[in-house]
Amino acid sequence: MSEIKLAQHNQSSFLLALEKIQFCWSKNASFILSLDSLRLGVGEKVFLEGPSGSGKSTLLSLICGIIRPDRGSICIDDIDIVKLGAGQVDRLRADKLGVIFQQFNLLPYGSVIQNVLLPLQFSERRRKQASVSGTPREEARRLLQRLGISTDLHEQKVAQLSIGQQQRVAVGRAIIGDPQLVIADEPTSALDHDSRDQFLTLLFEETARVNAGLILVSHDRSLASDFDRQLDIREIVRTAVIGAQ
Ligand SMILES: Nc1ncnc2c1ncn2[C@@H]1O[C@H](COP(=O)(O)OP(=O)(O)O)[C@@H](O)[C@H]1O
Ligand SMILES: [Mg+2]
Repeated sequence: MSEIKLAQHNQSSFLLALEKIQFCWSKNASFILSLDSLRLGVGEKVFLEGPSGSGKSTLLSLICGIIRPDRGSICIDDIDIVKLGAGQVDRLRADKLGVIFQQFNLLPYGSVIQNVLLPLQFSERRRKQASVSGTPREEARRLLQRLGISTDLHEQKVAQLSIGQQQRVAVGRAIIGDPQLVIADEPTSALDHDSRDQFLTLLFEETARVNAGLILVSHDRSLASDFDRQLDIREIVRTAVIGAQ
């Protein structure tokens, strides 16, 4: 943790700040992403849209530190993750970010509860946060209950649940222990109308409770007005698809 503190520089009021980013998947890749500036205030909720293949998931992977830019800085809470070693990035991600992947990335043979508790294994801060009003297990049960996953499903293997239910387990896993920023990549795509509303209400309530920021990627424009800011990726990111004409 001390190394991470050392990497801290001038305080700003931004939870997230990306500056002068350039990224390509490989040396001769046809897709290049460049972004001048993207900043997110503490607790800010951003709706991000754009056509398929426009780089939304790539941008989220950069923010999560799963991939590194070739140029530029990505500050989370004033710590430039581009300058950190891989282990430090993993720790920072575990402490501060809750991620809902497009493919959920749940452990299929783990139980529902085990999946929700997983991030606490990698972060002492989140373990403490999840223990404020009981045990982490009780907190996981509370979240699952609120997500509409009834008690009889909590010990079942996650692979036995429907896609919609798995999506809600992924939300529970992302928000347990109060991360400062929640990243969600098309999380509502497999949900019906009612489940989608319930899902979004919970996501908003839980992030508001701890003043967490939220970046949600979706094609569903009807959700956009509930957010503080709406962004089309084409307004902030320049992409060059070399060879395509
Ligand atoms: N793991 C990867 N390796 C190489 N290229 C990738 C990878 N993931 C995405 N891409 C490429 O990056 C571009 C943007 O994709 P993506 O970020 O997934 O867009 P979106 O999420 O907006 O649909 C596409 O051209 C895609 O083929
Ligand atoms: Mg995507």
